[in-house]
Amino acid sequence: MPDISPASPASPAFLAGLPKAELHLHLEGTLEPDLKLALAQRNGIDIGQSTVEEVQATYVFDSLATFLAVYYPAMNVLQSEQDFYDLATAYFRRAAADGVVHVEAFFDPQAHTSRGVPIENVILGYSRAATDAAALGVDAQLILCFLRDFSAESAAETLAAALPYREHFVGVGLDSDERGNPPSKFAEVFATARANGLKLTMHCDIDQVGSIDNIRSVLHDIDVERIDHGTNIVEDPELVAEAVARGIGFTTCPVSNSFVTDDMKADEIVQLLRAGAFVCVNSDDPAYFGAYVAANYAALVEKAGLTVDDVARLAKNSFDASWLPEEKKAEYKAAVDAYIAAA
Ligand code: ADE
Ligand code: ZN
Repeated sequence: MPDISPASPASPAFLAGLPKAELHLHLEGTLEPDLKLALAQRNGIDIGQSTVEEVQATYVFDSLATFLAVYYPAMNVLQSEQDFYDLATAYFRRAAADGVVHVEAFFDPQAHTSRGVPIENVILGYSRAATDAAALGVDAQLILCFLRDFSAESAAETLAAALPYREHFVGVGLDSDERGNPPSKFAEVFATARANGLKLTMHCDIDQVGSIDNIRSVLHDIDVERIDHGTNIVEDPELVAEAVARGIGFTTCPVSNSFVTDDMKADEIVQLLRAGAFVCVNSDDPAYFGAYVAANYAALVEKAGLTVDDVARLAKNSFDASWLPEEKKAEYKAAVDAYIAAA
């Protein structure tokens, strides 16, 4: 039996109260079955299911590709600015309950513009929710992600369409199906994003064909500030040392890993932690994988036998890997220390 007494690092109450940042969270991945059904009704869309149980029964996946095949069609229910606002607001409420004080959340404009939804519905709905999240005690920022299985031209068009709304997002990312879509395909659009003052991150999903080459490329060719997932880097200790020296963040998602591969990758996460990397814990697509961020901490603590000090380090890493100014990082890390001291 795991120790889940209030002072234990696996206690749900302890983990939910721990101040933390969430840096790997797809807003579209927070679409819970009940909201999906409500939005389908609001917009007169037949999604083929009419109960939460029926929706959940469609959640059958064991790889990134099979997950994405369930994930994208569900987005049809998102149409108006209010739909995007409602989705993000539901997530920010859950994040607040999970001790998240800062979030840098991904969104996928092309998953919506490719269905004819105007980009302003997406950006302005999410941005209004992010502004209102302050009243929940959550400082929320947005990261525009390009879909890597779309063309480089489509990514460039998306960035051009989004730049009039530049003040609503802080960085760009790259997600969707990695197979056959290496980082180099997007070198130009990421350079344009950097020239516009945007921060850069990219997914390097778990156990992909060429994972380690893609990780090397995002570090050497694209020059990202952090990597989403990226735990295959442990295959190359020299690259780990370089990432540590450069202060690269790794936004890992233990429960997601156990759905799209056969393993949580706890050993790899702990190796990065012990090596001094800014590795942190996140939830990825919590409505699909059934675990928001505190539950991801709990899963990792239990699997890897982490201590309170380890958990505190992971929470501090979440701020160190963030794009907050240094003085805000220091403030939040002091809040972690104060929380642990009082626990
Ligand atoms: N889109 C949503 N979740 C993703 C993930 N974990 N990897 C790639 N694309 C995604
Ligand atoms: Zn992701």
